[in-house]
Amino acid sequence: MHHRDILSTLRETSPEALADLWKRADAVRREAVGPDVHLRGLLEISSHCARSCLYCGLRAENKGLTRYRMTREEILACLKEIAGAGYGTVVLQSGEDPALNIDWMAGLIQDIKSSSRLAVTLSLGEQSDAALEAWREAGADRYLLRFETSHAGLYGRIHPPRKGSGASDRLRILRKLMALGYETGSGVMVGIPGQTHEMLAADIALFRDLGLHMVGVGPFIPHPDTPLGGAPASDTADQVPPTDLMVFKAMALTRILCPGTNIPVTTALSTINQEKGRELGLRRGGNVIMPNFTPLKFRASYAIYPEKACIRDSGIESDRKVRELIKRVGRQAGTGRGDAPAMKDGPNRNSNQR
Ligand code: 5AD
Repeated sequence: MHHRDILSTLRETSPEALADLWKRADAVRREAVGPDVHLRGLLEISSHCARSCLYCGLRAENKGLTRYRMTREEILACLKEIAGAGYGTVVLQSGEDPALNIDWMAGLIQDIKSSSRLAVTLSLGEQSDAALEAWREAGADRYLLRFETSHAGLYGRIHPPRKGSGASDRLRILRKLMALGYETGSGVMVGIPGQTHEMLAADIALFRDLGLHMVGVGPFIPHPDTPLGGAPASDTADQVPPTDLMVFKAMALTRILCPGTNIPVTTALSTINQEKGRELGLRRGGNVIMPNFTPLKFRASYAIYPEKACIRDSGIESDRKVRELIKRVGRQAGTGRGDAPAMKDGPNRNSNQR
């Protein structure tokens, strides 16, 4: 599929053509990754963040947010719940919190790997090569780092560099992750102010070119306590709207271009379409859901964006709802780790082609 076909699909409005797109994405999904919907237990272990990303509620400048950091004991207690619910993966996510230093995280990862069969996915933001190496060494299996947009100008506008350093380079970090043997996930927000259809088409082509194992896309949701909080979508006709329809198009195209990749139905998608987001996401390319097992008392303090879906459901409660949904759409919950099929050929598939 060429750039211009991706682009025209993003601009498609005909109901018949869209129905065809959903059908095609679902057929590719069935063929490439089958009926399993993989469940990942999400733990938001710290809301501290040293960065200033213009869209994110966790940005350091947001003084209105109560910050927390889970203790090791709290984390281990949640892990028991996740493993007990039959999950094969835990996702440890946080802001860029300097207190989660190399040794502390490495120790935690080693503990999890020696006391359970859980695959460990890290989603801890931009980290040094030394940290990524140490955590891989300690047993971490996967890493998630969205590049948010492949357009250098837009990326730079919404990601002020860390104090005292140059512009960040998430693509370099993603290549490093793949070279280290992490199963690597990335993704973008759909509808960032200033994002054009061309940019989003380029993002989707890049998912394929990077050979990612996981691709998460969700709508941009303005957070009132951030610089992009009040931003009316720019008035150019080419602004990508942050709608569920546009997210479904991006998910379906991603499935068609990267057949074997794991595609989660994101919390942000479920937030803007609480009634149907998850179900339609599963029918239009998605094959992963990440129920939130963060203790309820911390939920409000991890407000990346407002009114996050399921903020009131405990891990066990959302697990129950998700399993019901999976049955209702005629699929089955995956058992085991749910590695991306792309991993079976070893990491870094695209650079290893013989
Ligand atoms: N709206 C939607 N998604 C957001 N994220 C951060 N802030 C927002 C927002 N306001 C997403 C980013 C990040 C992921 C953890 O959450 O894509 O990578």
